[in-house]
Amino acid sequence: MSAWDPDVYLKFGGERTRAAADLLARVPLSAPKHIVDLGCGPGNSTALIASRYPNADILGVDSDEAMLAKARAEHVQARFEPGDFETWTPHQAPDLIYTNAALHWAADPLAVAARLFQSLAPGGALALQVPQNFDKPSHVAMRAAAQDGPWAEKLRDAFQPLMLGAQDYAGALAPLGAKLDVWSTAYLHILEGEDAVLKWISGSALRPYFARLRGNERTGFEADLAARLRRAYPPEIDGRTYFPFHRVFAIASKGA
Ligand SMILES: C[S@@+](CC[C@H](N)C(=O)[O-])C[C@H]1O[C@@H](n2cnc3c(N)ncnc32)[C@H](O)[C@@H]1O
Repeated sequence: MSAWDPDVYLKFGGERTRAAADLLARVPLSAPKHIVDLGCGPGNSTALIASRYPNADILGVDSDEAMLAKARAEHVQARFEPGDFETWTPHQAPDLIYTNAALHWAADPLAVAARLFQSLAPGGALALQVPQNFDKPSHVAMRAAAQDGPWAEKLRDAFQPLMLGAQDYAGALAPLGAKLDVWSTAYLHILEGEDAVLKWISGSALRPYFARLRGNERTGFEADLAARLRRAYPPEIDGRTYFPFHRVFAIASKGA
C-alpha cells in the first residue's frame, strides 16, 4: 500500500472532518479515561476528541508514518504510535475506541470491528464511521477507467473494499451484546475548483491505483478518469461541483 500524503488528504479537511465531528457528537460517554483514535491520520479526528475530552489519556494509532508525523506536529493533547488495526490490540482496555474513515481499508472490517468491541473496558464504546461510496459514480468511474486502458493489468484488484452497509455493521456487533446506535447519511459536498472530485479521491481511494503506475501510464489513467468524473459530476453554472458522499456510522456500547 502506498504512503498517504497528509496535505492532499487535508485539501478537503473541513468536509472530511465534518463526519468525524458528527460521529463524536453521538458518543454516549461523559468522561472516558482511556481513548484510542484508530487510523488517526493527520490528527484531525484526534484533535476533536481531545477538545471534547480534555482530561482523557488519548492514543492515536496509524500505520502511515507521514500521517503520524503530521499528527505529532499539530500539538494535539495525545500520544501517537504506529500500529496496524488488522492486528492491533490495546495494552489497557480502552473506554472509547474511535475510528473515523479508516476501517474500510481493512480486509474484513466487520471482523476488526467485532474484535475491537471485545477489547473495550466494561461500559466502553466503539464508535466507527466508514464511507459507503463503493457503488457510487466516483468509484464506478475509478473501476471503469482502471479496466479500460493499457494499465488494466497493473490495476487489476488495486482496491476492492467490501460493500458493507449499516445493517452489516449492526449484524456483526449485535450478537456481541452491543447496544447499538447505527445510521447512514449522505453529505452534499460543494467543492470549489476544477476536477474537484478527482482531487478529493486522489487523497484517499485513488492512492492504491496511483501507487501502481508511473510516468505516462499514470498521467493517461488520471486524464481518462478526470474525463469520466466530469461527465458523472458536471460543474454547476458557478463552477462548483456537487459531490454526494455517503457514510455509515455505528456506535456500539458495552454494558458496565
Ligand atoms: C482517511 S484517513 C482518516 C483520518 C482521520 N481519522 C479522519 O477522521 O479524517 C484513513 C487513515 O487510516 C489509516 N490506515 C489505513 N489502513 C490502516 C491500518 N491497517 N492500520 C492503521 N491505520 C490504517 C491510514 O494510514 C490513514 O491515515
